[in-house]
Amino acid sequence: MLEWFRVSRNNSSPYFRDGMMQDLPQLESELLGAIDGARDLAALNEVRVSALGKKGRVTALMRGLGQMDAAERAQAGPAFNALKDKIAEAVESRRAALADAELDARLAQEKIDVTLPVRPEAQGHIHPVSQVTDELIAIFADMGFSVAEGPDIEDDFHNFTALNIPPEHPARQMHDTFYLAEGPDGERKVLRTHTSPVQIRHMMNTPPPHRIIAPGRTYRSDSDITHTPMFHQVEGLVIDKTTHMGHLKGCLEEFARAFFEVDDLRMRFRPSYFPFTEPSAEMDIGCERKDGELRIGVGEDWLEILGCGMVHPKVLDHVGIDPTEYQGFAFGMGIDRIAMLKYGIPDLRAFFESDLRWLRHYGFVPLDVPTLAQGLSR
Ligand code: PHE
Repeated sequence: MLEWFRVSRNNSSPYFRDGMMQDLPQLESELLGAIDGARDLAALNEVRVSALGKKGRVTALMRGLGQMDAAERAQAGPAFNALKDKIAEAVESRRAALADAELDARLAQEKIDVTLPVRPEAQGHIHPVSQVTDELIAIFADMGFSVAEGPDIEDDFHNFTALNIPPEHPARQMHDTFYLAEGPDGERKVLRTHTSPVQIRHMMNTPPPHRIIAPGRTYRSDSDITHTPMFHQVEGLVIDKTTHMGHLKGCLEEFARAFFEVDDLRMRFRPSYFPFTEPSAEMDIGCERKDGELRIGVGEDWLEILGCGMVHPKVLDHVGIDPTEYQGFAFGMGIDRIAMLKYGIPDLRAFFESDLRWLRHYGFVPLDVPTLAQGLSR
């Protein structure tokens, strides 16, 4: 026991103030007891503040050192410091223990019994359009494409003019366009007739090189067993300095094999025409039509699945890309159409009727997210 400690002093040190005497070991055991008794982190924090906080009891001791004479300080300093360290250590180890216990309690409480059956009312289905869109994204993401988006309501420039379809061009009639009412500036907006305007927006907003797909809704005034006024397309665009038609072919063949999940899929490219590509082509895949049924990857017949081509120099000009420096390819494909082909769905109109029986039959399990590693469709 320190001698000075038992002597009542009448100096200005807070430790000795008012002749107050404290027994250091008693203070220590009192604080350690309180630390041990703290039942949660909040209670422990209170004890810590009462000892080591600005107005804490140990802090007050330390402050008193300033008023001591050198001899006193030489004795009291190390003793107070040792007490402070000991209390801080005890607080820390109690804090760790309480935190562990709190985590254990939470883990025990948040336990989920994964063997419980799924509640029947929790079973929704993924629409084939969403499923196929996810499959497309998985395939093209693996080839280094990212996803771009554009608005459903377009202006004439993005939907037509920039794509080398000037006013009065017959291709405008081919599209059965829905026009909106005239705006204050006299301009009539359109519901985009294809996803190709997203090419334009993307090329105008970001510098080359480009490697994107753009899935989304498209609109044409048309309705029968294979046409609905609203349908879905996915656009593809690759622009850099060296991309040529061989890359277009390789990319789309790779896509078709992955999508239809047929390794030896027969494919061919037929010359075609689009105002925004030159040369242009359509891609067919091998199939068989027998007894009113269509089978992909077998037989001698052909089925068209997409349009494509090398981006026309005039399109690059419109978006401010130098066609003597940059080139590349684009393609466009009907998502609903390839969904019908892959999953044997006969009538396109049923896609958008929200008939629960149809959704249950043709829908996909929500937790089976398509990935190349795990398989696109199971
Ligand atoms: N936009 C075309 C269509 O809707 C498809 C296409 C896109 C063709 C890109 C070539 C290149 O028919």
